[in-house]
This record gives sequence, C-alpha cells and structure tokens, in this order.
Amino acid sequence: MRRRLIAGNWKMNGTVPEAISLVQRLKLLVSDVQDRDIAVCPPFTLLDTVSKMIIDTRIYLGAQDMFWEEKGAFTGEISPLMLKEFNCTFVILGHSERRWIIGETDEFIAKKVESAIRNGLTPILCVGERLEDREAGKTKDVVISQLEGSLSLVKDPESIVIAYEPVWAIGTGKPAYPKDAVDVISMIREWYGSRFGKDKAEGVRILYGGSVTPSNIDDFMKESEIDGALVGGASLNADSFARIVKYLL
Ligand code: PGA
Repeated sequence: MRRRLIAGNWKMNGTVPEAISLVQRLKLLVSDVQDRDIAVCPPFTLLDTVSKMIIDTRIYLGAQDMFWEEKGAFTGEISPLMLKEFNCTFVILGHSERRWIIGETDEFIAKKVESAIRNGLTPILCVGERLEDREAGKTKDVVISQLEGSLSLVKDPESIVIAYEPVWAIGTGKPAYPKDAVDVISMIREWYGSRFGKDKAEGVRILYGGSVTPSNIDDFMKESEIDGALVGGASLNADSFARIVKYLL
C-alpha cells in the first residue's frame, strides 16, 4: 500500500513572520491526522525557521530545488548537504516553473535527481505537458521524454516521488479532470515499471498537482491511482492547506 502525500509548494512566497503564523496554525489543524504524509516546501530562506517549528510534529520539510554538487564554487546554489542540515526530507526537482521560466533542462534535472538520492533526500520529480502539447495530442510523448531524461542517471529508485503537473493547470484555477490525471498517472506507472521493474512501479508515489483546492481535493483522492497532491497557491493559507490534508475525512 502506498501512503499518500500532500505536499505544499510555497514557491517564492513568505516572510519569516508569515511562515511562523502559517506553520503555527497548520500544526494545530493537522495534529490529529495519522494515515497520510504531510510536507511543506518553503523557500530556502525559511527552511531554518520552519524546520525548528516542526521538530515535534509529523510534518516533513522539503526544499524547492538544489544543485547537484555537494560544495564548491557554484555561486547562488544550494547543495543537498545544506538541505540535510535543516532536516529536509524532500526536494522538489524539475518543477515546470524551473523548466520553462528558468530554463532547466532534463540533463540538469537528471544530475539533481541522482545527487538528491545519493545524499539521502527524496526527490519530488515534476513532469507535465504544456497546453500546446496537450492540444497536439502529445501529452504522453512529452511526459515520457521528461521521465526518460530526468531519471536517466538513476540506478536504484528506492526513494522517488513523481508529481504529474500539467503546466496549463498550474496556478490557473483550471485543474485537470481527475480521470484525465489518472490516465497520465497510470501511463507514468507503466513506464516506471518497464524502466525499474514492476515492484518499484507498485511502490512509487505519483501525485497530481495543478490548481488543487479544498473544493476539488476529494475528487482527486477518490481515485486510487493518485497518491496525493502537490499544492501551490492553496498551501499558502493554513486553513485551506489543512483542509486539503484532511481530504475525505
Ligand atoms: P498551484 O501550483 O496549486 O498553485 O496550481 C501547483 C504547483 O506548481 O506545484
């Protein structure tokens, strides 16, 4: 049985006082949740604050990116060892905003995924098609090519989470239909099985992301193929994120 994961991606948002009040309230609201994993992924500047606040909780910490080297002359970058210092469990890699705004390639992402795993972090690898890909009927080709590229250096995929995030659904208020998300997620699982073996494919968590809100999370979580959600905008408010965490309760 795969344990579901609800992860909040704060993106480039939050001051220290904002993070403190959000996490204080979130801790209260989710303290009784047992059967699912919860993670928050604040910007690097808030990892220290949030890390200290969640020590006594079941909330995991994630970062939103990292560089593949452990240290050295890489101005502006953050290494996996630095993330581990703050007790990060997860690191989001290959988010579409990094692919399409910052210009990250699959080759870069592959090095990051390999380094994250080698250093004991669990990557949340994001894949997903743009609107023009979907309209051209290329969703599966695009997603498979991202998977092949981003996972090309992985030998032992012991700890990987995949997030299927159609680019057209991110931050637009237009989520995918749950059935359409299931189609792509099942295809991802099939591909994963052919690459790493059936057992690994059964175990890998594949999340959906893109305009997940308190009002649509239950519909996604009714689908047994969807192992959780990566939540952007709605994770910036403790009440709405807590409601998403408490799907179907
Ligand atoms: P959204 O973002 O929930 O604001 O659409 C999701 C994401 O980018 O991970």
